Amino acid sequence: MPDFEVRPITAEETLSLRHAILRAGLPREMAIFPGDEAESSRHFGAFLDGKLVGVATIHFASLLDRPDFDPAYQVRGMATTPEVRGQGAGHALVEACMEAARAAGAHWIWCNARTPAVGFYTQHGFKPTTGVFDIPTAGPHMRMFRPL
Ligand SMILES: CC(C)(COP(=O)(O)OP(=O)(O)OC[C@H]1O[C@@H](n2cnc3c(N)ncnc32)[C@H](O)[C@@H]1OP(=O)(O)O)[C@@H](O)C(=O)NCCC(=O)NCCS
Repeated sequence: MPDFEVRPITAEETLSLRHAILRAGLPREMAIFPGDEAESSRHFGAFLDGKLVGVATIHFASLLDRPDFDPAYQVRGMATTPEVRGQGAGHALVEACMEAARAAGAHWIWCNARTPAVGFYTQHGFKPTTGVFDIPTAGPHMRMFRPL
């Protein structure tokens, strides 16, 4: 297994991979999320031999249909390059997100998981809280959450 280095990066630094992997074919601005520059947001990059191969972000955000679960953070913009998939970069990024959310005092973490990524989040202890719903720019999703 390669040794991925995960470290904080800026919102701007997430954009190349976010755009290429999660918003392919759409204008680059579509890869910018509301809240990216918020004080409480954190962005992480996974590096292999100095090259950025994965990104993930957490935003302070209520689990919309479960306000009783506050305080909560949302994982967004999770993406790894096709060449490194299945080798642990996604795992390292989701662990960094959970650690940062815990450190910020959150009790829960959640995401809108693309349906092909539901298995990935399930492996990391997330459970679905909705059925499948459509996000116009990004296709079918399920909302998933886990305690921290
Ligand atoms: C989802 C994604 C981030 C996973 O990244 P990754 O680098 O492949 O993740 P890892 O290699 O750390 O995988 C960790 C574990 O999850 C498993 N896994 C990864 N993707 C999976 C999937 N889609 N379904 C089920 N299990 C999956 C791996 O097999 C691995 O299991 P193991 O530890 O038992 O071997 C990556 O596939 C991706 O960028 N996909 C396209 C964009 C996307 O859908 N992002 C999520 C948006 S919500």
